[in-house]
Amino acid sequence: MRKKTVAGNWKMNLNKDEAVRLFGEIELRSEDVQDEVNLMVFPGHIYLDALLTARSYSSRILIGAQNFHPAEKGAYTGESSVAQLKQLGVDAVLIGHSERREYFGESHAFLKEKVNAAISHDLIPVFCCGEPLEIREKGEQEEYVQRQLEESLFHLPVTDFAKVVIAYEPIWAIGTGKTATKEQAEDMHSFIRSLVQLKYRQDTSDRTTILYGGSCNPSNAEELFSMPNVDGGLIGGASLKAEDFLQIARKR
Ligand code: G3P
Repeated sequence: MRKKTVAGNWKMNLNKDEAVRLFGEIELRSEDVQDEVNLMVFPGHIYLDALLTARSYSSRILIGAQNFHPAEKGAYTGESSVAQLKQLGVDAVLIGHSERREYFGESHAFLKEKVNAAISHDLIPVFCCGEPLEIREKGEQEEYVQRQLEESLFHLPVTDFAKVVIAYEPIWAIGTGKTATKEQAEDMHSFIRSLVQLKYRQDTSDRTTILYGGSCNPSNAEELFSMPNVDGGLIGGASLKAEDFLQIARKR
């Protein structure tokens, strides 16, 4: 059976003291979260070193980067490579978040390079997909998400694909307070799982973690996570308060 995963995407929020304090509180109070739940946080880039340094030796909290450049090194002003992140001690990376696709023009091909770079340096790729409102209103969300997966993820051999976590984040639910219904989430998650089964094998699709993201909070997490193909959440706003994040993590 798949372990549940709850990940917090802090985006461009908090100052250094707030970030260190939030991480410390989550780490301290994560003891009352069931052992079988994976916990991850994706802080702002400039806080990675401080949090990795502050993380206790026996911590269960994985720390990921919200962004990186797929090149091994070179003239990419302002960017960091996966090798640099790995050396820092980073565990995972977000790839394909809708905000990076939209604001920074990250194409399917570029995201494919990022997936390959993350795999090559043994970082957990958390690959984000999801449709905009106009696509959902036309009922074309499955074709849209299928293309995202086929263009940037489904080139991987099965052994590499097994390392990937998928996060379905309908863009119209991100930061809007308009969460997908549990049925909408389950429909898309089971569709994604069916694509994985078609492409790879039954055991691979059974083991693939598919997270939901988009206005997930303590009041709706339980019903979302109760769906058979929803394996947890990628949380934005509600991850910025330790109590909210941990309440979500405790939901079965
Ligand atoms: O990556 C997670 C994020 O996009 C969801 O944001 O604030 O709707 O939970 P939020």
